[in-house]
Amino acid sequence: MSWRFAWLSEVPERAAQLAEWHVAEWAPLIPGFNVPDMLAEFATHDGGEKIPTTLVALDGEDLLGSVSLLENDHDDIRAYSPWLASLFVRPQSRGSGLGVELVRRCEDIAQRLGIARLYLYTSGQEPFYRRLGWQDVASVSLRGVQASVMGIAPRALGH
Ligand SMILES: CC(C)(COP(=O)(O)OP(=O)(O)OC[C@H]1O[C@@H](n2cnc3c(N)ncnc32)[C@H](O)[C@@H]1OP(=O)(O)O)[C@@H](O)C(=O)NCCC(=O)NCCS
Repeated sequence: MSWRFAWLSEVPERAAQLAEWHVAEWAPLIPGFNVPDMLAEFATHDGGEKIPTTLVALDGEDLLGSVSLLENDHDDIRAYSPWLASLFVRPQSRGSGLGVELVRRCEDIAQRLGIARLYLYTSGQEPFYRRLGWQDVASVSLRGVQASVMGIAPRALGH
């Protein structure tokens, strides 16, 4: 599979598909999460010069996945910032290293923007991130679902 990467702001016609994937994946964890709000949020994401931003992976014109860098990711977790958020690879493209590549690229963006410490939350993907050097920071309950806040230290950036 050949990948190319672009800012979502460069391929805005892909935003609707991405919003549908994200809402289907995370609506159970995020109260009121819906496609129109996601699209309005995406419209504020720029080309990697500041937070918030979203990077997408494509194969030709086909959208494969994405990762975002956000100031706040969940209304119920405000003690940490900024966030690697919304890491997503479409099901038929998983297991080929794209998820890892998107995480690394998001870390690189954060480093370039001078971010000292980067966080994420996950419910179930902790082993995936631990393998990439992320550490457990806190355990939280989101609508009764247990989730982990994880962080990566500045020294771990720039791998
Ligand atoms: C998590 C996700 C992004 C991974 O994408 P992917 O493209 O399949 O990931 P990769 O192919 O880069 O995986 C790299 C390695 O991690 C492993 N891996 C994937 N998910 C894992 C998990 N949950 N726990 C441990 N290892 C995992 C893969 O087996 C692979 O190992 P290998 O290199 O030894 O074969 C993808 O499964 C996804 O979009 N899931 C739904 C959304 C989601 O859960 N996002 C994260 C929310 S915090």
